[in-house]
Amino acid sequence: MGTTNRRDFLNHLLAAGGAIAASSWYRGFAQTTAGPARVAFDTSRVRADLDRHILGSFLEHLGRAIYDGIYEPGSPLADTNGFRKDVIEEIRTLGVPIIRYPGGNFVSGYHWQDGVGPKDQRPRVLDRAWNSIETNQFGTNEFIEWCRAAGTEPLLAVNLGNGSPENAAALVEYCNVPSGTRWSDLRRRHGVESPHNVKFWCLGNEMDGRWQIGHMPATEYGLKAADAARQMRAVDRSVRLVACGSSNPSMPTYLEWDRQVLEQCYDDVDFISLHRYFNNTSETNGDTSRYLALNLDMERQILEIAAVCDYVRGLRKSTKRLALSFDEWNVWYRANSGDGHRQTAPHLLEEVYNLEDALLVGGLINTLLRHADRVHVACLAQLVNVIAPLATNNDRVLRHTIYYPYAWALHHARGQVMDLLLESASYEVPRLGQVPFVDIAATADPSTGEQCLLMLNRDLNAEREAAVNWPGAPPTRVLGLETLTGPDLKASNTFDQPNRVTPQPLDAPKAGAKMTFKLPPHSYTVARLATA
Ligand code: AHR
Repeated sequence: MGTTNRRDFLNHLLAAGGAIAASSWYRGFAQTTAGPARVAFDTSRVRADLDRHILGSFLEHLGRAIYDGIYEPGSPLADTNGFRKDVIEEIRTLGVPIIRYPGGNFVSGYHWQDGVGPKDQRPRVLDRAWNSIETNQFGTNEFIEWCRAAGTEPLLAVNLGNGSPENAAALVEYCNVPSGTRWSDLRRRHGVESPHNVKFWCLGNEMDGRWQIGHMPATEYGLKAADAARQMRAVDRSVRLVACGSSNPSMPTYLEWDRQVLEQCYDDVDFISLHRYFNNTSETNGDTSRYLALNLDMERQILEIAAVCDYVRGLRKSTKRLALSFDEWNVWYRANSGDGHRQTAPHLLEEVYNLEDALLVGGLINTLLRHADRVHVACLAQLVNVIAPLATNNDRVLRHTIYYPYAWALHHARGQVMDLLLESASYEVPRLGQVPFVDIAATADPSTGEQCLLMLNRDLNAEREAAVNWPGAPPTRVLGLETLTGPDLKASNTFDQPNRVTPQPLDAPKAGAKMTFKLPPHSYTVARLATA
């Protein structure tokens, strides 16, 4: 729909005044000068069926993510497998649909054979990615077993750094072939009768980065990825494969890397990966109103990488539309040292998140939802202890601030993602232009009639209203209205003070065809509505 039509449509739907001054590249947004944000929630405007894989996460052999995080034999909190029961319970409660493993940078020097078979025969090795000691007491079979216990699906990465396509295909055979071949029979000898049937696979990690073991030029990686993909599919035709895209938009090779890689492997893969970590320093000079707009930069990254995919598709005259796997995203900028000093389970990247980080994470989730037509897999990086929503000590699990927006999306975003129309007052942000104060994503589940609105108020000082209009079947009941906010944007949760930043209930407006939500200053709010 063109800009003019969109404006007419919005005005028609909202049947109210308020001049629309301009529109933006940001999806569905039109700028207004004042007044409440106006939102058209038309359930006939569906952006995409929600693929819950976009709410995935990530566990790397890094720091205390695996050891002391999910696996701690000897702990009174561990089960007979050594899995931390309290952590499993948290992850089951969250309902994380898919988890990427074992890296990350770690995977580019990891030899999966080291991590299978009798534990007393597994080597202790130097992990050169994080200068840590890897005991290999937790490997592929333990991870799959843990996934079952945690109610999630594995997304396995293969080593295309110092590993070969041959060995990547061997891992697929080990995991997915029932029996009767060298690697499947090895799995059975290791006591695992049934195949794991792992569907999703990453072809290496961040191969554009000089920090990556086995880093190589784009064309070379593209050829290696294509070779690995063909060998892996020869073992199991049903696998879904992710090629490594650019590590982040500030790479000097950004977009060119993606183009050159895809020119070699477009026909052989299903996804290209995107990664991104945000900070409130170099990108913003510490200005939180700019920080809270950064999810729109993620929006731009998605559009740019999608454009490269479609360019290569055009070159190749392919009928296939490549999907995006945003398989590392988060806030990360304080706990930067990646040197494990040759310790096992060192304290690395143990970022402590604050309120403003949680608000941005909420915005990033909104962006992923708005692009659910193209992004089909995404992973919050990571899950436990390492740049994570959850942290462990000897006797507890802590929920960091970013846990809450992630949990809301996992619990309440269901069914279909709506193509909302939003008209909002805005403010200027360098490089991003006019940024709406109110950022909204919404889902509607036709099977239950439930709807969910996820609303970010970027205004640091003032309450903002979101006036939502339903041209179709209106909500009949408010099932819940909660917000994450507080007086101190820098407030964090700690083991001593675990509840400094937690959701609070809000007074709900009366359910109906027009509802006005009052969004507190600097807040992220979830509204759950019933229509039946
Ligand atoms: O998630 C931490 C690290 O960030 C990953 O190992 C790597 O892929 C990225 O650079």
